[in-house]
Amino acid sequence: MSTGKGNPILRASNITKTFGNNTILHGVSVELAKGEIKILIGSSGGGKSTLLQCINCLVVPDSGEIEVDGMVIDITKKKDLYRLRQQVGMIFQDFNLFDHLTAIDNITIALRKVKKISREQATQRARQELEQVGLGDKQHLYPAQLSGGQKQRVAIARALAMDPKILLLDEPTSALDPTLVGEVISVIKRLAAKGMTMIMATHQMSLISTLADEILFMENGRIVEQGTPSVLLAKGNKSRTRGFCDSLNDLVGEEG
Ligand SMILES: Nc1ncnc2c1ncn2[C@@H]1O[C@H](COP(=O)(O)OP(=O)(O)O)[C@@H](O)[C@H]1O
Ligand SMILES: [Mg+2]
Repeated sequence: MSTGKGNPILRASNITKTFGNNTILHGVSVELAKGEIKILIGSSGGGKSTLLQCINCLVVPDSGEIEVDGMVIDITKKKDLYRLRQQVGMIFQDFNLFDHLTAIDNITIALRKVKKISREQATQRARQELEQVGLGDKQHLYPAQLSGGQKQRVAIARALAMDPKILLLDEPTSALDPTLVGEVISVIKRLAAKGMTMIMATHQMSLISTLADEILFMENGRIVEQGTPSVLLAKGNKSRTRGFCDSLNDLVGEEG
């Protein structure tokens, strides 16, 4: 399944998840090589968010196996979950910042509590990460004082400060005003250029067509189509992916 970039750094095998009587994931498998970017697409309710949350065990899968960098995660062991979350960063649609903490403290709190580093070192690292996402001058502002795009950039800086091996991004631009999408896309493209390994659910065509090594089309809890954008989106290809992406483009057209 890997697109030929070496041994997988992430392997999620046969993940199943049922809520009540509703099976949301029917044995989904995904592999990522180091530096690889896979993009999840598909209609709302297909299971994209649940899959991403199962990968870092924010949602505990009913069955299946997660392996990160050669280590199989035993979800019954706190130590394994802790290691998993150190290595796998997550970016949410709605940012998930602590509203009562400034931008810089949103980052230092994780560094101090999880990485156990000193306040000075944490502050220095957090400043660096904020500068990287163009927010060096916003360190002391609270989330309520930041735009959506700035909040998402703080969230990205917070994830990167933990030195993750893999980033999971769940529709990182969906909650943003159209005018603010570009600044977050630029940050994500820069991460990709630096070789970050990512799985991202997104319907932003500029991310799908330029970043995806592989597109995974999800429907009703299954990956029903997968392949490179150059193949799946090729002119004349009758793929589900192409049909879906065409409908996204039409929507963008309608919205102006
Ligand atoms: N905690 C939960 N409890 C019950 N149902 C859930 C829960 N989380 C997600 N679901 C259901 O799982 C399905 C897939 O949701 P989701 O993973 O959010 O899909 P997507 O991200 O593709 O829109 C939806 O029908 C949703 O209602
Ligand atoms: Mg979702």
